[in-house]
Amino acid sequence: MVTSSLYELGRDPFSPNLNLAPITAELDAQGGLVVGGCRLTELAECYGTPLYVLDEVTLRVACKAYREALQHHYPGPSLPIYASKANSSLMMSSLVASEGFGLDAVSAGELLTALRGGVPADRIVLHGNNKSDEELLLAYSNSVTIVVDNQHDLDRLAELVPIGGEPAELMLRFTPGIECHTHEYIRTGHLDSKFGFDPDQLEPVLKNLLGCRWARLTGLHAHIGSQIFELDPHQDLANVMVDVLQIARSMGHPVENLNVGGGLGVRYVSSDDPPSIDNWVKVVAQAVNQACLSRKLDLPRLMCEPGRSLVAAAGVTLYRVGSRKIIPGLRTYLSIDGGMSDNPRPITYQSLYTACLADRPLASLEETITLAGKHCESGDVLLKDIELPRVSTGDVLVVFATGAYNASMSSNYNRIPRPAAVLVHSGHSELVQRREQPEDLLRYDVMPERFVALG
Ligand code: LLP
Repeated sequence: MVTSSLYELGRDPFSPNLNLAPITAELDAQGGLVVGGCRLTELAECYGTPLYVLDEVTLRVACKAYREALQHHYPGPSLPIYASKANSSLMMSSLVASEGFGLDAVSAGELLTALRGGVPADRIVLHGNNKSDEELLLAYSNSVTIVVDNQHDLDRLAELVPIGGEPAELMLRFTPGIECHTHEYIRTGHLDSKFGFDPDQLEPVLKNLLGCRWARLTGLHAHIGSQIFELDPHQDLANVMVDVLQIARSMGHPVENLNVGGGLGVRYVSSDDPPSIDNWVKVVAQAVNQACLSRKLDLPRLMCEPGRSLVAAAGVTLYRVGSRKIIPGLRTYLSIDGGMSDNPRPITYQSLYTACLADRPLASLEETITLAGKHCESGDVLLKDIELPRVSTGDVLVVFATGAYNASMSSNYNRIPRPAAVLVHSGHSELVQRREQPEDLLRYDVMPERFVALG
């Protein structure tokens, strides 16, 4: 069926956008786009649109890249953990567990999804700057490590851990005071951040924790932000963290884990040029190793928490094209059957994406159009002024690199049901998230009895 590898075609200067596709992307005999051995037009037909498609090979290749890079560049023990906020599902939990990954959860929902998906509890960490008692107890009762973010976490845990119970396993998150270039909403390492202990608070907190029977501090955590293309801030972070590691150990804390967070950026448009996974891990691992060597410290277990760089490239979203509005001399809008509820990133962060037509990704570009979503909001525009071949109503449009922070950030704005998601592999597609139906959206509404009585 397949005649050419898109990966090769993507290097063609006339179609540079196509190397944003998942790594199994190919063209069929008619020139249509195939991912994981499945024709995208057929997936759209079979499952409906909008549809999230995840390519299993691309996911596993990214996991392997992190695993092997850690083994190759870090002489001590290591554990990559998946930041499940990027795309949380039973399937993703099970897949990352089978790849030897741990998982980072930030809510009871993500934590349950990890546990039920088969991630071993001792490889899960619970984050969050305002954890509820229920979330803390769910983590504690499953022996999940809790990343304490602030004094409130410590105060609540002191009450919640039963007297004589097993101590809670803790990691301490602090703000490393490192700036990096990314959207201000997704920067977390600078001092004015809601996450983590301020560096000035660290010593007293470490002192107080020494006497606690209910807690065991086994790790340190920091995360500087997301969609970062620079390597220097991650290198600086490693140094700052090893400084704190030295202080904590010198006080007597059994700190074995150093969790440097995630943050590696990905390509959304052909001009993006992020470092490779191997390069990112190499810089971080060498910095931690060097910093420990120079301070004569035993190497901690190095943990990192990639989200976006594990799943973004594996995902594409399929939409069907509907109405067209031509404003002469100004702009042509094409509307699709999804938008800001299945991909809120453009309206939230002004994020750019790349698109093509599923049945003719290499057709010559003939018109400049703006792809609008179907929500009642003028800002609901997925891609502005992009070049496409002549597009007709009913065509299937493919948006690349939507595996991260799309499904997981989706909403029901305008009471629009969330899309289905499928996993593709070797010509097979499997449903991993059912499509919501409008009826489902009424499930949690309660009509006050008074109103019913009024008829
Ligand atoms: N660890 C922690 C503590 C985090 O807060 C995050 C992301 C990660 C790891 C994973 O970072 P990544 O490898 O994915 O860059 N919604 C935004 C991204 C928010 C990131 C939040 N934290 C977006 O769509 O760009």
